Amino acid sequence: MARFPELSVAGNAVPASIFSRLREHLARFPGDVIPFQIGDTHLSPPARLEQLVWAELAPSDLYAYGAAAGWQPLVKAIAEDAQTRRKLDVTPAGIQVTSGATHALASTLQALCDPGDELLILTPHWPLIRGIALSINVIPVEVPYFDVADPAGRSTSGPARLEAAITPRTAAIYLASPNNPDGTMLGPAQLAEIADIAERHNLWILSDEVYEHYAYEGPHVSMMSLPAASQRTVTVFSFAKSYALAGLRVGYALTGNPKLCDTMRKMVNHSVYNVPVAMQHAALAALREGAPFVAAARERYRAARDRARARLAAPTSMPSGGAYLWVDFGKWIGNDCMPLLEKIAASGVLLAPGSSFGAACGGFARLCFTGVNEARLDEGIDRINAVLAAWS
Ligand SMILES: Cc1ncc(COP(=O)(O)O)c(C=O)c1O
Repeated sequence: MARFPELSVAGNAVPASIFSRLREHLARFPGDVIPFQIGDTHLSPPARLEQLVWAELAPSDLYAYGAAAGWQPLVKAIAEDAQTRRKLDVTPAGIQVTSGATHALASTLQALCDPGDELLILTPHWPLIRGIALSINVIPVEVPYFDVADPAGRSTSGPARLEAAITPRTAAIYLASPNNPDGTMLGPAQLAEIADIAERHNLWILSDEVYEHYAYEGPHVSMMSLPAASQRTVTVFSFAKSYALAGLRVGYALTGNPKLCDTMRKMVNHSVYNVPVAMQHAALAALREGAPFVAAARERYRAARDRARARLAAPTSMPSGGAYLWVDFGKWIGNDCMPLLEKIAASGVLLAPGSSFGAACGGFARLCFTGVNEARLDEGIDRINAVLAAWS
């Protein structure tokens, strides 16, 4: 059947940027724009491209095609880090280097799911996971979960809701810990509840742990450390989040399941062929030298979190990890805070609208507290407070 000029169903289903409406309002603001909407950092990375001695690298390490699995020195260092620091039983056969954690999750879903399969997404959730599912005709199913977690890492009705959402088409569960947008970190008991459900229903687990280094209230626990989860879990990490290297686009996936890793590797090979080796070289330098950076950044981010919460007039989550405050604007505007966010944008501050983090999250917005320095954090929050004070 002729197709032109129609595009694919999946291509049409993937949502476009949520910021176009807000940017129109932002454009009217003449002064310094404060970008609270993006999940990034204002800190300089521990290893910078211009400090690397490129001349020491063999041309084949820079200009030839690389291995699909990843550049071997980096893969080896990732394995050592996983074994020694995280105490995970991972070998290079279970490691896949990717173009950021985004690519790791996309390749994983491609390896695990068929069109029409369902992906259960613990919600509120990182927005791109929905689009990644939709891009391969997988149906994203939101499961409200983190609102029912208590700070001790237990949950009440979350697991029941998760189990109730399972259908014969369910293939996998996606969760992030620490979570984006609300910063909830799942403790061992809570992870075990999810692993137990996955085990009883033969489901895969996609565990997004890109904020593992930014855990403020206790050690981060990886889903893969649970024996019940080790074979059925793919865990993703990101040099963007750990080492302030978003522009390099390097991340990776770990799994205890070599067959799954082989299949993901085929997906990586058929999408980017290999992650640029030059960027992996820089990622390796960050992994080797980055521990002091991570320790200092964690303290700086924790202080920024507390400073932002204390200053902001609106109630927020108390994030035990990650980079965001999940702000509840319900008292001012009910279930759709877009008009309020437009006013805030008109004062030169962008927030991420809650609706992109879950269908029932329209009364919330996400504020990234790591993207600007303390003075600009204060300034941006003062502008938000001024809009709230004038709102009636
Ligand atoms: C929870 C979560 N997962 C994955 C990613 C993507 O990471 P990367 O930049 O490495 O693709 C992000 C980025 O913001 C994130 O917040």
